[in-house]
Amino acid sequence: MTDTVTGARGTTQTLPPRAYFDADWFEREQLELFGRTWHYAGTADDYAAPGAYRSIQAGRHPLVVVRGHDGELRAFHNVCRHRGTAVLPGSGRVERHIVCPYHNWRYGLDGCLLAVTQRKEVDPGLDRSELGLHPAAAAVWRGLVFVHPDPEPEPLTDWLADLPDRMAPYDPEQLAEVGAARQYHLKCNWKVFMENALDNYHLGYVHKDTLVGYDHKRQEQYRCGERHWYFYEPPLEPGRLPPMDAGSGLKPIAQDPHWYGSSFGLIFPNLFVLTSATWWSSIQVIPTGPETTTLELRARFLPGQTGRIALGALREAASGLVQRVLAQGILRRQPAYDLVEEDVFCCEAVQVGIKSPRFSVGPLAYRLEGGIQTFQRNVLDYVPLEG
Ligand code: FES
Repeated sequence: MTDTVTGARGTTQTLPPRAYFDADWFEREQLELFGRTWHYAGTADDYAAPGAYRSIQAGRHPLVVVRGHDGELRAFHNVCRHRGTAVLPGSGRVERHIVCPYHNWRYGLDGCLLAVTQRKEVDPGLDRSELGLHPAAAAVWRGLVFVHPDPEPEPLTDWLADLPDRMAPYDPEQLAEVGAARQYHLKCNWKVFMENALDNYHLGYVHKDTLVGYDHKRQEQYRCGERHWYFYEPPLEPGRLPPMDAGSGLKPIAQDPHWYGSSFGLIFPNLFVLTSATWWSSIQVIPTGPETTTLELRARFLPGQTGRIALGALREAASGLVQRVLAQGILRRQPAYDLVEEDVFCCEAVQVGIKSPRFSVGPLAYRLEGGIQTFQRNVLDYVPLEG
């Protein structure tokens, strides 16, 4: 196997094959990459009421984000100062205090240790002020909550660089979430999916029957700061809603026809925010093992639409459109209607090939696959090659 292969016109594969299946590499990523970056922790709606919380795994750091009685959103390491139990597992709401489920030590929503059960037995001279939950950092951007294991990290606004200026001006807090989060479980390394999302070479092939109505040839792509990317594809007919949006019956979120296209922002290392004229969605790419990944997809639409407001509406619209095209003999096969499932198929096939002793990367499409190279360099900034 080769560790580095230079493609045509200087586009280079910089990550070694083992980065996609090796357990030691995975562990280094957990500690050195996911332990040192901002993580998506859900939407502000998830923390609407005082006491609402969600536990988040940031690499090897179990964290928890909780809304205080004063309305502040705070983050802590979800590690009891007695013997390390996760004080708030899963998600939910606590009424007044955080009570560790093991020996019932009690913490305030500001992380302070309030009470120790059987204190004389434990340590009569115990100083509670020394034993609060370790702080982490929480920040909100456009209704999206992010958390960082470091209590004083690079500010989120600095971290996002100019990505917010590029993206569609949708505010997820003004939109209504429909249905539960949808999960996909993939048999591939998380970076294979990330690289697939940065690969715009495949759009007209893998998604030729599903990603219709967008002009792949006029795609715009921007690198935002050091780490992030933004892509935009205009509709094939400028100023007109693409067929999937027009046929869905959903009201356009976009007032400006410029946003009738499809866009997505990649927030390094593992979050996508996608928009079309009628919907907003997020996909979080969660590494679950060296060769397994879970995608979590959440979607939002203009509020006040019921019944047809669902991903199913878009799927129905796509189905109707495709049925008409099938009837005209233009398409050769029934598509899956699910863009993500089409990507999953390709990613799992790549994962098999990467482990082959014969694997190496050939010439890459220097513009359409250029984001892959940047993404790999970003990973190497956090997890450098040893030796
Ligand atoms: Fe939390 Fe003992 S581990 S109270």
